[in-house]
Amino acid sequence: MGKSFFMLGDCPAAPIAPLRPMQDKLTLMIPGPTPVPETVLQALGRHPIGHRSADFQKIVKHTTEQLQWLHQTKNDVLVITGSGTAAMEAGIINTLSKGDRVLCGNNGKFGERWVKVAKAYGLEVEELAAPWGQPLDPDAFRAALEADGEKAIKAVILTHSETSTGVINDLQAIARHATAHGTALTIADCVTSLGATDVPMDAWGLDVIGSGSQKGYMMPPGLSFVAMSERAWAACERSDLPKFYLDLGKYRKAAKGDSNPFTPAINLYFALEAALKMMEKEGLPAIFARHARHQRATTAAMTAIGLPLYAAEGHGSPAITAVAPEGLDAEVLRKEVKNRFDILLAGGQDHLKGHVFRIGHLGFVCDRDILAAVAAIEATLQALGLATAPVGAGVAAAAAALAA
Ligand SMILES: Cc1ncc(COP(=O)(O)O)c(C=O)c1O
Repeated sequence: MGKSFFMLGDCPAAPIAPLRPMQDKLTLMIPGPTPVPETVLQALGRHPIGHRSADFQKIVKHTTEQLQWLHQTKNDVLVITGSGTAAMEAGIINTLSKGDRVLCGNNGKFGERWVKVAKAYGLEVEELAAPWGQPLDPDAFRAALEADGEKAIKAVILTHSETSTGVINDLQAIARHATAHGTALTIADCVTSLGATDVPMDAWGLDVIGSGSQKGYMMPPGLSFVAMSERAWAACERSDLPKFYLDLGKYRKAAKGDSNPFTPAINLYFALEAALKMMEKEGLPAIFARHARHQRATTAAMTAIGLPLYAAEGHGSPAITAVAPEGLDAEVLRKEVKNRFDILLAGGQDHLKGHVFRIGHLGFVCDRDILAAVAAIEATLQALGLATAPVGAGVAAAAAALAA
C-alpha cells in the first residue's frame, strides 16, 4: 500500500490522495523548465552534425538573426552552452573590472544572486533593495546615479521579472536613469521576461541582457543567451575580470564566422531554430498579449478563490503568479495538485517555502492549461476541505478574463 501513496515529505499531517499516475501526462506550470512543443522535441531528436560544418554555420547564422528579432536589437546576441546563470555571470565578467562600483537591485532570490555574483568578482556593490513582493524603486536608482558626480558607478544591475516573487521591475525606467548618467551600463537578467513581455533592447538602451532556453524560448534547459550593446563591448575592452569559457570576445569573434568557440549543444540549436520559428509565426505582439491575458486570468481566478496574491498590485509578472494562501500550507496544496492531477506548480523559495506557491504561465502555455490549473487548484482545495469560495468560482473568473 505504501507504494501506491504519494509521500508528502515535510507535510506528514496532510491528507494524502492515492496516486493516479498516467504516463507522459505531467503538465509543467512552473517558471522553468517550461513545456516544450512537439515540433521542438522532434527537432532535438536528429542526429548531431559537425559544429564546424557549413550546415551548422547556416543554423548559427539563421538563429542569430532570429535571436536579434526576439531581442529587438541590431546588437550581437551570443549563445552559450550553459544555464541562465552563465549568461548573467558572463554579463558581469565581460564588462566590469575589479573594484568597480555597481548598483544592484535586490527584491528577491534572483536579485540576491546578482549581488552574490558581483561580490564574488570583487565588485563594490551598492544594493538598492525592496522587500520581497514589492518592485524596485526607479527613483532610488535615479537618486544614486544623480548623486554620482564622479561617474564612479559602472553598472546598474537588476532582474526584470523576479521569478521568486512574481514581480516585474520597471526595467525601462531604471535603464533610462542609467542612460542619463552617461557612464553606467544597464545589465539585466531577462531570464523570465524575454519572450513573455516587451524587452526592446535597442529602444530601451539596454547594454547587456541575459536569458535562458528553458523559459520563454519553449525549449529544454541548456542554452543561455547574452546580448551586448556597443557600449558594453567598449567596456569589454577595459574589463580585467578573469574569464575563459565565458569570455564573450571569443564568442563574438566566432560568431562573425557563424560559429561558436567551443563545441555547442548542437541538438539544442536544432530546437532553438524550431522554437524561434514558432515564435516568429505567432509574432511578438501576440506572444506578449497571450502572456498578459494568462496573467490576468490567473490572478482573477486566485482572487475569486480567495487566495491572496503575493506580488504588489499592478506589479505582477506576465510569466508567473505567486500566491500566498492564508491558513494553509502552500506546500501541501502544491503537492496535492501534483499528486492528484499531475500538474506541477512551483513552491516558495527560502523563507517563502510553505507560504507561497507559484503558477508559471511562461512559454508554451495556452488557455486550456490555465483553466486546467485553476480547476485543479479548486478541486484540490475542495478535497482537502479548504475551499472557502464556491468551487468553480476560479474557473468562471479565469474564463471571463480569457474571453475579454
Ligand atoms: C529570473 C531568473 N534569473 C536567473 C535564473 C537562473 O537560471 P538558471 O537556473 O538557468 O541558471 C532563473 C531561473 O529560474 C530566473 O528565473
